[in-house]
Amino acid sequence: MDLNKKTIWITGASSGIGEALALQYAKLGHNLILSARRQTELNKVADVCNSLGATSFVLPIDLSQLDNPERIVKDALAITGKIDILVNNGGISQRGLAVETNMDVVKRIMEINFFGHVALSNALLPHFIKAGGGQFAVLSSLTGKFGYGLRSTYAASKHALHGYFESLAIENFKNNIHVTMICPGRILTNISINAINGDGSNYGQMDDGQKNGIAADMCANIIIKAIDQKKREILIGKKDKLMVYVKRFCPAMFFKIAIRLDPRK
Ligand SMILES: NC(=O)c1ccc[n+]([C@@H]2O[C@H](COP(=O)([O-])OP(=O)(O)OC[C@H]3O[C@@H](n4cnc5c(N)ncnc54)[C@H](OP(=O)(O)O)[C@@H]3O)[C@@H](O)[C@H]2O)c1
Repeated sequence: MDLNKKTIWITGASSGIGEALALQYAKLGHNLILSARRQTELNKVADVCNSLGATSFVLPIDLSQLDNPERIVKDALAITGKIDILVNNGGISQRGLAVETNMDVVKRIMEINFFGHVALSNALLPHFIKAGGGQFAVLSSLTGKFGYGLRSTYAASKHALHGYFESLAIENFKNNIHVTMICPGRILTNISINAINGDGSNYGQMDDGQKNGIAADMCANIIIKAIDQKKREILIGKKDKLMVYVKRFCPAMFFKIAIRLDPRK
């Protein structure tokens, strides 16, 4: 048995950062469970992963409809026998002022970006404890560290992940459970195209900010290193990362800058 070979479960593996993570983990020869809603896309990612040397399995899930997360975890464990790392990556962004965002949209974003990850992680946690350890990697955002225009609920969902998973990590230090919080800035994926407006309609545009973002494979590379080193938190970005430090050390200046920024750039 190859002890370096891990089983890594990635949600949101059908595109963007999740897909890039799957491909890089595949090159390293790990076993993969790939989840998201679109089975056809997942199958395509799995085929490429398998051609790169991985054994990968597709397990479609909708993070907004996890009525029985224990059964999904049971299915995942039945496929691979063990899980070493769960990458809570699936997510959706927002492009709408708070004043024009209806409660259905607020709930939808929270369901996918927060409750879905909590439900899956909580269902897996007892297995990690029984197995003597495990790791959760959680895709937050720089917007998990500060608020930003047009993203009130998105920012809230990412902030909530920090509170939840930091507490989980503290409670489970004795159980050898690690949590790596990942906070990217702008990464070149379809996240803005897939974002939703305040009325629930699709935003459908590639924002300039996204277009000029870091490549998804470069982002995946940084994430994999951080997971390997069991880092508690990493920031990934260009100049946008600086806003975390400005907010921490000079909150008044952060606010002055933030109100002047164009949230689409
Ligand atoms: N790109 C950025 O600039 C950026 C910055 C900071 C943080 N992030 C975070 O990184 C993560 C990945 O985003 P991305 O940039 O790779 O965007 P993306 O290309 O739009 O990918 C989002 C992924 O989430 C999945 N997903 C969406 N809704 C889902 C649902 N209800 N159930 C299950 N899976 C669902 C999508 O698959 P299906 O459509 O097949 O379900 C897709 O695989 C997100 O959590 C995002 O918030 C991204």
